[in-house]
Amino acid sequence: MAAGKGTRMKSALPKVLHRLGGRALLRHVIECAALLSVRKAVVITGHGAAEVETALSADAPASIDLQFVRQEPQLGTGHAVQQALPQLADDGVTLVLSGDVPLTQASTLQALLALCAGEKLALLTLAMPDPSGYGRIVRESAGGKVQAIVEHKDASEAQRQISEIYSGIMAVPTRLLRTWLSRLDNQNAQGEYYLTDIVKFAVADGLTVLAHQITDAAQVAGVNSPVQLAELERIYQRRSADALMEQGTRLADPARLDVRGQLVCGRDVEIDVNCIFEGHVSLGDGVRVGANCVIANARIAAGAVIHPFTHIDGEQLGVEVGAGALIGPFARLRPGAKLGAEVHIGNFVEVKNSTLAKGAKANHLAYLGDATVGERVNYGAGSITANYDGANKHRTVIEADVHVGSNCVLIAPVTLGAGGTIGGGSTITKDTAPGALSVARGKQVSIANWSRPVKKAR
Ligand code: UD1
Ligand code: CA
Repeated sequence: MAAGKGTRMKSALPKVLHRLGGRALLRHVIECAALLSVRKAVVITGHGAAEVETALSADAPASIDLQFVRQEPQLGTGHAVQQALPQLADDGVTLVLSGDVPLTQASTLQALLALCAGEKLALLTLAMPDPSGYGRIVRESAGGKVQAIVEHKDASEAQRQISEIYSGIMAVPTRLLRTWLSRLDNQNAQGEYYLTDIVKFAVADGLTVLAHQITDAAQVAGVNSPVQLAELERIYQRRSADALMEQGTRLADPARLDVRGQLVCGRDVEIDVNCIFEGHVSLGDGVRVGANCVIANARIAAGAVIHPFTHIDGEQLGVEVGAGALIGPFARLRPGAKLGAEVHIGNFVEVKNSTLAKGAKANHLAYLGDATVGERVNYGAGSITANYDGANKHRTVIEADVHVGSNCVLIAPVTLGAGGTIGGGSTITKDTAPGALSVARGKQVSIANWSRPVKKAR
């Protein structure tokens, strides 16, 4: 169910598209369903339907058959599920989930499906210290058989004392769901078609209704406001930090790590505070990441050190950092930066769409764009590749063992021959021969005994 408005988000973005851990809320739900190897997932959209459908279709897990149905207008949760019925086969089980409940674990749903066993109505429930607002699980007697779910607004004072609530998640044999949904009406406090009314039909039909009661409230917590979104984000981040530490990653502070995507760590990885990882990032054995780094879509090989305040973003092309490389502090690696082993990239150096072979160094204040840099090249402070002529981009090739002095401008396309030296301050427009010293700058002129101008007396 993903048709609801989400008024309290006070946002133009449909609620289920708000992000948690870098992924839309609804994506978390779909990915969880994909883990259960469900036959198909039917997403019921309404508010912002087109936007939700586009966003979800774009990068849906390949393993799931995703379908959309629309619920317009939204007349309640029972009415929502009615819209999905034509897509559901009678020989199956329907698992009802909410698109705004992102932290449910697949194992919890497995347990619920096991309880349903293809023939019973199974409800996921939770005891809450403050159950107000939720549907209450009404039982024959304490701990006895489930008889009904009564919505808060329809509940008597006595029923409102019940602390066991319906989570919004149930597993139900589809053929039974179909008959029960056809019997729904909206004669209740909210004038809605309540999905939860099917419980009383099940009981009337003599069918067993079972509750799977969990204690982990986060798994069934929904997002209705920015505050709740931020709360669940913290829980999600803490759980992903715990999972990393569980397999050996050392975090300076698990509360100051944000993983918005997938972070895979080798052995003996250390991550200092305030780091953000996005997209797919892998850190090889012994990698150390300093404080305040942002790293997205990158592969960092074993033993590399990323010093503080480094920004790495591979976007689609990716970034590769070789074994034992030293990056930063204050370095910027952009899409297509491929750095070999033991490369050094120092402060305020930007690298984009460039390959640096083993042992190449650019330690200070430099730009390498669309360049191929050979082994052991030393690239001086303040030097840049002028790779863009205003219309097209061109490559710069710097062969092995070249020494580029400080403040050089390499105007691409250009090739610097192996072992050559480029004098500081040169603007290089033509290829240079291997082994040569190339200098391209104004000659120094000295005028002896130069008298500086003096201020005129008034
Ligand atoms: C529902 C349950 C309540 C339970 C609570 C748990 C009903 C009648 N009540 O409450 O017992 O304790 O969830 O959070 O089911 N939605 C639609 N179309 C609609 C209405 C809702 O798609 O017409 C979607 C919402 O976007 C949301 C989900 O269904 O994802 C639940 O709706 P919400 O209004 O949050 O739940 P309640 O009806 O308050
Ligand atoms: Ca409602």
